Amino acid sequence: MSTPTARRLALDILRRTLDNKQDLQAAVDDALSPVPAGPDKGLATELAYGYLRMRGRINFLLSQLLKNPHQTSPILKRILGVAMYELLFLTRIPDYATLDWAVSLVRERLDATMGRVANGVLRSLLRLGLAPRFPDYYQTKTIGHDQYLAAWYSCPQWLVRLWLDGYGKERTDAFLQASITTPPLGVRVNRAHTRAEEVRDSLRPLAQNSSEWGFALPQWPDFLAQAVAEGSATRQSLAAQKIMDAIGMAYWPSPVLDACAGRGGKTYLLSEAGKSVWASDINVFRLRQLKAEGARLGFDVPAFRAQGQGPWSLRQTPHTVFLDVPCSGLGVLSRRPDIKWKRTAGDCAGLVNLQEQILEATAALLSSGGCLAYVTCTLNPEENERQIERFTLRHPEFTSLRQAQSDPAEALGEFFYGAVLRKN
Ligand SMILES: C[S@@+](CC[C@H](N)C(=O)[O-])C[C@H]1O[C@@H](n2cnc3c(N)ncnc32)[C@H](O)[C@@H]1O
Repeated sequence: MSTPTARRLALDILRRTLDNKQDLQAAVDDALSPVPAGPDKGLATELAYGYLRMRGRINFLLSQLLKNPHQTSPILKRILGVAMYELLFLTRIPDYATLDWAVSLVRERLDATMGRVANGVLRSLLRLGLAPRFPDYYQTKTIGHDQYLAAWYSCPQWLVRLWLDGYGKERTDAFLQASITTPPLGVRVNRAHTRAEEVRDSLRPLAQNSSEWGFALPQWPDFLAQAVAEGSATRQSLAAQKIMDAIGMAYWPSPVLDACAGRGGKTYLLSEAGKSVWASDINVFRLRQLKAEGARLGFDVPAFRAQGQGPWSLRQTPHTVFLDVPCSGLGVLSRRPDIKWKRTAGDCAGLVNLQEQILEATAALLSSGGCLAYVTCTLNPEENERQIERFTLRHPEFTSLRQAQSDPAEALGEFFYGAVLRKN
């Protein structure tokens, strides 16, 4: 039997993102763009995201089921991993169909002997029955609590330890559970658009959580395609929107310099809320996308390339500097599960330095009374509260007004940190 297209596509996405280190969404877009619309695209995306979310648990099971896990070829493990994801998590695909494509593909890519190994591993998994679907199985087969959490919640052990040390057991459990759960879809209504109230009123009854103009939806309603096209709505996680409210975005004085504006997600959140914004970023390609977003949403935001750590030469002084800084992304693993398999503790230290340099250079742009707002999408105290703590120690002329962190009880699946300071 030939391998169904969706599995080949999923393996191609995984090769791009895990082996070539491409960003997951870009890997999905590149792998799927030549494929005609249809169910293969949906299944390939589900397999790639699902496998990446559960890769740690799957690898733990593989270590139990393979005779020599460390000497097994990576391609065999990858094919088995995707097949195991199907067997454990996708109830609509019959087991025999999964075994069939996986064993055929291993034979094609390796050889008949490896095909028999693959068949044996997958049948051993099926013989375990329901056991691997419950935490007890992992508790009894791991040594120590960290290893158990890493296996059950499919998370690298260094990250489990970072969270336990930084946030304690209860919040770590909540972060870990969120990291393996598909997050809701976020929408922001463009409050400056003539149809804003109509779109907001249609979304309200469908939402599982909301703010005044933001919504978290279990699925994407058909009418939103039109709303996005006409500029009355934008995809944006509700947790990202809420952190901006939590650090008092409404009170920030204009003009705001959004110095890590990227494609403009938060630039236009600010514009829609009535702020006058200038956008800058180190990445010209993202700034081009930001300008295209402006055309869709009805804003002409001045945008220019600048390195956050300076040197800066602005003709006018911003009254607020907003920094949505480059960070380790450990708060958005549910939407970007590739990050947990790529990020290292060393990268986090490098990012802490870069954030510090950006803070130093941009804080110097402010005059007395100016605001400095800082946001990350990570769960790492060194990049969050300790970064701000160190900044205020170095700069007693700044007073911390508010700090906030996404609350796991909101069940938005993503976690942001924010702080706002005023220059005295
Ligand atoms: C978290 S993203 C910003 C997301 C964006 N604010 C949004 O809401 O869509 C961080 C941004 O920082 C930019 N960046 C990275 N290093 C930078 C630097 N040294 N100076 C300025 N921007 C930088 C990246 O290009 C990226 O767009």
